[in-house]
Amino acid sequence: MSSSKQVKNRKGKAMDHNKININSPISNKLIGQVDAMSKEEVDSIIGKARKSWPEWNNKSSSERMKYLYRAAELLLERADELSDLMVLEVGKDKKSAYSEVVRTAEMIQSTADIAKSLNGGMIPADNFPGGAKGKFAITKRESLGVVLAVSPFNYPVNLAASKIAPALVAGNVVVFKPATQGSLSGIFLANVFKEAGIPDGVLSVVTGKGSEIGDYIVTHAGIDFINFTGSTEVGQHIASQSRMIPLLMELGGKDAAIVLEDADLELAAKHIVAGAFSYSGQRCTAIKRILVLESKAEDLIKKILVRLGELKVGNPIDTKDGIDVVPLISQNAADFVEELIVDAKEKGAKVLFGGQREGNLIHPTLLDHVTTDMRVAWEEPFGPVLPILRVKSMEEAIDLANQSEYGLQSAVFTTDMNKALEVAEKLEVGTVQINNKTERGPDNLPFLGVKNSGLGVQGIQYSIEAMTRLKSTVINL
Ligand code: NAP
Ligand code: G3P
Repeated sequence: MSSSKQVKNRKGKAMDHNKININSPISNKLIGQVDAMSKEEVDSIIGKARKSWPEWNNKSSSERMKYLYRAAELLLERADELSDLMVLEVGKDKKSAYSEVVRTAEMIQSTADIAKSLNGGMIPADNFPGGAKGKFAITKRESLGVVLAVSPFNYPVNLAASKIAPALVAGNVVVFKPATQGSLSGIFLANVFKEAGIPDGVLSVVTGKGSEIGDYIVTHAGIDFINFTGSTEVGQHIASQSRMIPLLMELGGKDAAIVLEDADLELAAKHIVAGAFSYSGQRCTAIKRILVLESKAEDLIKKILVRLGELKVGNPIDTKDGIDVVPLISQNAADFVEELIVDAKEKGAKVLFGGQREGNLIHPTLLDHVTTDMRVAWEEPFGPVLPILRVKSMEEAIDLANQSEYGLQSAVFTTDMNKALEVAEKLEVGTVQINNKTERGPDNLPFLGVKNSGLGVQGIQYSIEAMTRLKSTVINL
């Protein structure tokens, strides 16, 4: 909800400055406000970023690394304060929020470390037909210019810094658009970089609803690269209108847990429940469907039900310990999840656990006998609902997994490594986890989605490469 407020600019000219109220998804109480920035303000920010790029880019890599090391130190010092804010702003429990901040500080530090080893090469040309003796190329990586970093609500610190840090260390400057519900945490993070000494204009924040100012930002002539994490719907919208500039996109997912006949069912149940319900399933890499061999379904379900009964459900403010299932980010988000549950029930699914809702808190819900005519078999709930689809063979499981429009990750549970590798080979996803829940971390690993789950590869080294280009200089002696 926006509210109007008269402010005066430096020439004393009254300016209308819309503000966006940020209310906590836990209590719906107002916790802060951010500017709904105008196009003129976006122009000014991007213009300032472009002007600051040459000086930043001309610093040595080792100079730029110093800023990252300092930012990582400061972030750790402020982990308690920032994680408290994240609990209020995105409803993440304190333990998960705190570990996200620590993980991010480690990622920023590792980004500087990895940047040390990034180098170019020398390619001899005379070993190629027609290549003259003494002809060779020297290659190096160069920054692109102004990187637009757009992040989602669910990891407001990690999924912002995982764009900002690699971009900066490579010599780019960054315009950062946080998710509106996550802007306060994003601004806190940007201020940590500023306190670390990042010069004005090198990292700036644009706030405002993506639905209002987003198109203007992504099509702005001053942007040289778009690094987006968010829903497939928004990602496709951005891709459909962006100019000929490189994109890096991490989008939605419908990660499957494939449980084969020889699986360790205790291990599978442990990872499935953790993977599906931590942070209420609001993770792109959450397990969002189980494809289990019919012969193993009952035994697996028994083990899953035991673990579902152990999940902590409720308000993260009430406890400092981990809470697995917290209120969803918005009423709309909860409405959507409820729609999927109702649709499945109407079409014959059986609710084995959960199904209750209090406001935007939905209890962990396990649906059995889910069939492919149900929406929950295909759509991304981004909430604590897990459908079980029973299959007759490994081949059927692979086929069903691959029918999804998404291709982020899949998990395969089996004690036969050859079979695991055979399944991994056939799955149309970016990453296959063998005997583990689907997950992005640790942040140095390659992280990518195929099909409607993304474009390009994240992960520290991969992100640095994605946000740079090669420069080849050919020597002719
Ligand atoms: P979202 O609604 O797509 O928003 C993502 C970001 O895009 C937000 O900053 C949003 O700003 C901005 N945005 C919205 N419309 C825009 C436009 N027209 N132009 C430019 N930016 C625009 O996603 P979310 O609800 O924050 O996050 C949940 C989704 O993200 C899920 O689908 C999840 O799977 C996906 N996700 C994927 C990954 C991954 O690594 N693959 C990680 C996390 C989340 P506003 O907040 O102001 O609307
Ligand atoms: O959904 C965001 C993604 O970054 C999740 O990270 O490590 O919890 O799978 P992770």
